[in-house]
Amino acid sequence: MKNYIKADPWNIIEEGFNPQLNKISESIFSLGNGRMGQRANFEEQYSGPALQGNYIGGVYYPDKTRVGWWKNGYPNKIDKVINATSWIGIDIEIDGEVLDLAHCEVEDFKRILNMREGYLERRFTARLKNGKCIRVQALRFCSIADDEIGAIRYCLWPLNFEGTLKITVYLNGNVYNQDSNYGEKFWEPGVTEVSDEGMYLFNRTKKTGFEVCTGSNFLIRKNEKQIRIDLEDICDQDYVGQRFFVEVKKNQPLSIDKISVQLSSLNHPGGQLMQCARQSLGQAMHKGFDQLKQAQAVAWAKKWEESDILIEGDASAQQAIRFNIFQLYQTYTGKDDRLNIGPKGFTGEKYAGATFWDTEAYCLPFYLATAEKQVSRNLLLYRYKQLDKAIENATLLGFGDGAALYPMVTMDGSECHNEWEITFEEIHRNGAIAFAIYNYVRYTDDRSYLADYGLEVLIAIARFWKQRVNWSGAKQQYVMLGVTGPNEYENNVDNNWYTSKMAVWCLRYAREAAKQVSRASPGKYKDLLQRVHFKEEEFEAWAAICSNMYLPYEPSMGIFLQQDGYLDKQQRLVTDLPAQDRPLNQNWSWDRILRSCFIKQADVLQGLYYFEEEFDLETLKRNFDFYEPRTVHESSLSPCIHSILASRLKDKTRAYEFYLRTARLDLDDYNNDTEDGLHITSMAGTWMSIVEGFAGMRVINDKLNFDPLLPEGWTSFSFRVQYRECILLFKIATAEITIENKGHKGIDLKIREKDRHIPGNKVVQLDQD
Ligand code: BGC
Repeated sequence: MKNYIKADPWNIIEEGFNPQLNKISESIFSLGNGRMGQRANFEEQYSGPALQGNYIGGVYYPDKTRVGWWKNGYPNKIDKVINATSWIGIDIEIDGEVLDLAHCEVEDFKRILNMREGYLERRFTARLKNGKCIRVQALRFCSIADDEIGAIRYCLWPLNFEGTLKITVYLNGNVYNQDSNYGEKFWEPGVTEVSDEGMYLFNRTKKTGFEVCTGSNFLIRKNEKQIRIDLEDICDQDYVGQRFFVEVKKNQPLSIDKISVQLSSLNHPGGQLMQCARQSLGQAMHKGFDQLKQAQAVAWAKKWEESDILIEGDASAQQAIRFNIFQLYQTYTGKDDRLNIGPKGFTGEKYAGATFWDTEAYCLPFYLATAEKQVSRNLLLYRYKQLDKAIENATLLGFGDGAALYPMVTMDGSECHNEWEITFEEIHRNGAIAFAIYNYVRYTDDRSYLADYGLEVLIAIARFWKQRVNWSGAKQQYVMLGVTGPNEYENNVDNNWYTSKMAVWCLRYAREAAKQVSRASPGKYKDLLQRVHFKEEEFEAWAAICSNMYLPYEPSMGIFLQQDGYLDKQQRLVTDLPAQDRPLNQNWSWDRILRSCFIKQADVLQGLYYFEEEFDLETLKRNFDFYEPRTVHESSLSPCIHSILASRLKDKTRAYEFYLRTARLDLDDYNNDTEDGLHITSMAGTWMSIVEGFAGMRVINDKLNFDPLLPEGWTSFSFRVQYRECILLFKIATAEITIENKGHKGIDLKIREKDRHIPGNKVVQLDQD
């Protein structure tokens, strides 16, 4: 765990330059706008430890699979979001010496991520080997107002000299992924062009054929006045730049406003990319840095108005929740249903920028409550559009009759994961996708979604579960063999409680959704059944499974068993583990992990989170008290679920402990892996820990319910949710709960099980007890 980020409500601040922490900071200070994003690499050259990262959502490459022992059914490629042309480069040379923070003395270094206005600032003073000292201030952002634009203002002040600076402003297409199975270059040779209107680099991915055109132009100000200067053009295959020499005087500022555009063939006709880039760069240059930055601040102000959480009395918790919300919106804004949320977003190469069950299980609740309906609908449509591939995927594995198995990891709907125990067996992901449909419909009341898209997905998923279970003669029940639950520290187990419970729920819900659609939209219902060749007998087979599915349970302890045989394991607690053994995945052999009772992430408890209405508090407590002490939380997705359940059990101390663990996971580098990128999807879990956990928000019988508790040390916390047509602002304080209804229509809520009516445009205050 690290502790070098300064507490501040709106900023992430690092003071002092420590090259050993640079890769961690590159992740933490990442920028993005939902369409593109980048790590906080330096503008000027840097030869110290760094991970280059500049990515464009939806632009990927099918890297060839590398596995030890090939198994039938493995995909032969892994689609990866790839490093695209970097547009940040500005090299500085003073008297023949290149400014490189790895080779000079660095003082007063400060990095600030301004989350309120959405930009990154870096300041430092560098003393070069030749004794020359300069002060630098660099501001940069990826515009969320126009998500194809990025801008930099790079200012320098010579502190102890006057002389000539050699400056090169450039685009670099010589970029690679560190994670490449065969060291391939993912791009065809690029085409470059420079003119008075800017520099351009056009390139195309090999195999997938995505085209990208990056353009940049800049203006120079000396002593605050714009100057014109002779530029030398550099036009290589994958590198294009403009170089100039400029006389500078002591303490007189020189600044460069570099504005860039990055367009891809996903959004523009391939053949016209260069022309479109020219046009949008021209417009962006016309607006200029200040206007673009102002638009960025306005766009972020709107996002904050919709999604901010205010915590009074706990500076570090406040900073953390804003950091999580900021990074989520930097990763996904919901404008485009072809894009999704990779576990690391645009902040690193790990997890390939691809889509996991994380989106439905963790991110959806956040977007449902903080954005307009269309955003979460787009997340659902992404899967709907990939249904054919999910059916194809199931067919490859031997299923039929329209059964769908959504991939564990995907970019375009096809499977990209190749470890049999996960690819073939971690099938609970299908359940999360079905549950997301249920969650979306109950939250938004958009019932037309079921008739138009949802039911088709639910039928295909139900068909998969029907074929995946089998009748056990010995048990006289249906069983599900050879699965991996959410706890990946157990593989190929029989009857994982969570997966089987989820399967039964999916079969029931698919039937229920079919009934709803048949009543509400009989025409669409009939068409759908014909299209998917559905026979009514399928319902009967589903019902038979639901009424007789084996769900392992230990009556003597009153707990659901994670899987058959779990209690045969040597029962130890996490507190029995020596500190040097943790994290287990970095210290124990895989075999030892598999045989141990230690749980990577919420598994039975994930099920109790999803289906809590079915269980009373005693059942929840018994299971929580049993599984919690055995859970090592080596997945970032785990602490938030534990925090929510601890809140439900009114265990404030543990709820808060798990909250901090999820909220500051990256800021404090808890798992020693922030340098690979941020844990974007678990950041939504942080939001869930507050709104579903501390505030206890649930939708029950079409009504919003709250059961708030205030963590020790917090004076209050406030949040806003969008629910159906209403916008509600909540403030949970020590003595009272304040609810403001921002809409015209009144709403009926339940607060601590009591019915409350909140009239439109009114503020209602309730005593805490
Ligand atoms: C977790 C999975 C998760 C993946 C991506 C893994 O460590 O076990 O549940 O989907 O990370 O976040």
